[in-house]
Amino acid sequence: MRRPANTTAQQQQQQQAARPKSSLLRLVIFAVVGLIVLLGLAVLIAWLIVKPKRLVYTIEDASIRNFNIQNDHLNSSFRFDFRAYNPNKRMSVYYDAVEVSTAFDGQTVAFNTLPPFHQPKRNVTVLEARLEARDVALSKSLSKDVRAQRADGEVKVNVRIRARIRFKVGVIKLRHQTVKVLCPAVPVSFRSGQTFQKTECDLDY
Ligand SMILES: *[C@@H]1O[C@H](CO)[C@@H](O)[C@H](O)[C@H]1NC(C)=O
Ligand SMILES: *[C@@H]1O[C@H](CO)[C@@H](O)[C@H](O)[C@H]1NC(C)=O
Repeated sequence: MRRPANTTAQQQQQQQAARPKSSLLRLVIFAVVGLIVLLGLAVLIAWLIVKPKRLVYTIEDASIRNFNIQNDHLNSSFRFDFRAYNPNKRMSVYYDAVEVSTAFDGQTVAFNTLPPFHQPKRNVTVLEARLEARDVALSKSLSKDVRAQRADGEVKVNVRIRARIRFKVGVIKLRHQTVKVLCPAVPVSFRSGQTFQKTECDLDY
């Protein structure tokens, strides 16, 4: 007789102990879910206020000097005027590291880095990149192709930019990200006085 009664009392005790615990747990879950929803809303509102827009890049001008191919080796000096546009009204951009390279087909022939800079909101900055190809070995077929382009008075090169950037919103600097830019088939003329055909670049964050 005593045992079952004892068990029932124990069970009651356990239930009483369990009830406040489960309601506390429920409170914690509500608080966490509420916090997540609020945080999500805050991020959404911040996003709507800032309205991030993609950065825009174009090549405005290009020239080539000291071009020489001998025994499938290339010497050449390139200059590119590279226009970076930040269309954002509320974000400025820190360019912490900028690398520029140029390639014939897939083969990179010259590389350089540009000094870091800070780009204000809604700002256009034109950067001049000078690249030197020095005694770069080309494959037989590429060398032939480049010589043929030279004979036509214009070479087409791919220009790539790789930049480590950070956006700044108000006083907050966001995390670093890498921007990869490809300006395909930039026409570089050997004729002086030739108007340059601006090249739009493709962006790949
Ligand atoms: C490239 O220039 C270097 C000197 O700067 C020279 O030694 C080399 O022979 C040149 N190569 C070509 C293909 O003109
Ligand atoms: C863009 O920003 C740079 C650096 O702050 C400044 O020198 C330049 O004048 C600005 N350009 C325009 C178009 O506002």
